[in-house]
Amino acid sequence: MKSLNIERIREDFPILNQQINNNHLAYLDSAATTQKPLNVIKAIEKYNISNNANIHRGAYTLSIKATEEYDKSRKKIKGFINSPYSESIIFTKNTTEAINLVAFSYGMENIKDGDEIVVLITEHHSNILPWQMVARKNKAKLKFVYLDENSIINMKDFKDKVTDKTKIVAVGHVSNALGTINPIKYMVDYAHQKGAVVLIDGAQAIPHMKVDIQELDPDFYVFSGHKMLGPMGIGVLYGRREILEKMSPFLSGGDMIEYVEEQSSTYAELPYKFEAGTQNVEAAVGLKAAVEYIEDIGLENIKNHEMKLTKYAIDKMKEIHYITIYGSQDIDKRGGVISFNIQDVHSHDVATILDSYGVAVRAGHHCAQPLMKYLGINSTCRASFYLYNTIEEVNQFIEGLKNVRKWLGYGS
Ligand SMILES: Cc1ncc(COP(=O)(O)O)c(C=O)c1O
Repeated sequence: MKSLNIERIREDFPILNQQINNNHLAYLDSAATTQKPLNVIKAIEKYNISNNANIHRGAYTLSIKATEEYDKSRKKIKGFINSPYSESIIFTKNTTEAINLVAFSYGMENIKDGDEIVVLITEHHSNILPWQMVARKNKAKLKFVYLDENSIINMKDFKDKVTDKTKIVAVGHVSNALGTINPIKYMVDYAHQKGAVVLIDGAQAIPHMKVDIQELDPDFYVFSGHKMLGPMGIGVLYGRREILEKMSPFLSGGDMIEYVEEQSSTYAELPYKFEAGTQNVEAAVGLKAAVEYIEDIGLENIKNHEMKLTKYAIDKMKEIHYITIYGSQDIDKRGGVISFNIQDVHSHDVATILDSYGVAVRAGHHCAQPLMKYLGINSTCRASFYLYNTIEEVNQFIEGLKNVRKWLGYGS
């Protein structure tokens, strides 16, 4: 493991080098979306300058070049997550679309009256609503697993809820709202023992830690490019090949077919069966460049840096008596996300005041309204760190926090 040369890294992210409200921009919202390094921006530019054409369409050279770029991206993702097959990597628009694909193509066809689906109370809405739709349509039961007294997933509750009736366990690897890292390997194995299929929402994990599909062995693993230095508009569904092969297409139309008759059609092989219509090729190219950037820096080094910042920030925040931090107090169980509230101040006011100090944090329910309700709050502020953030930016954030209540006329 080595310390990151942040000064050097920041040269790759020109967007971070700007003033917001006469202050240095401290971008602490990477859990919402990350910034793009120059190699990603340039890869997209180069693709558009030299290689752009519609893929799988032409016998002409430019289309072949574009197709090759798209295929190289898929192979890069295969290697990055150690998927056994390229055909298991389906490009989607984002995590949300990937989960919907599984819910509609797998869930709607395989979940029957009386079956059960299990999710965690910490899930992002993207990993709740598609299952609500499946449960409602197929008369299945959607069950939630709650937290224990340490604000981590209650594993006894998990084991009680996952039973022989469970057909799908859909769990977040890392919570976007609390930053908690779930014991995902245990969950996968346990769910498999009960005969359930497992989907992991890896949107908040894949940018920050090594994910080895063959070791973890989920049936589906999904994530978004824009949370891992890549462009918006591209996401990934990894699916177990045997399951994907049996699933019907999610979207249908051009490019996902073999033969089309007036009344019926046969479909293309994997992965194309699930990639209907013109794909976001430039985003796939950008995603490949993002993975190259991450691999170059090293995921272990990235995680190590984020955890240093997180620990430093939490220690400083704990010194401020009117701040409540949510989620596990055990730093080893957390990612680089800190969800918090300031006593008597709405999270939106906190974020607006911090913005006046140049600090960008997210405020709201973080697309986790069931969790907020469960915690008895309506919103939190969330600071999230990535490889380009500095200790100075954490200090800027802490100084801003100390001023929030003063701004609103409270003594301290
Ligand atoms: C854990 C988690 N799942 C799903 C999503 C949805 O991602 P997207 O909007 O890219 O589909 C997010 C985005 O914040 C997330 O944090």
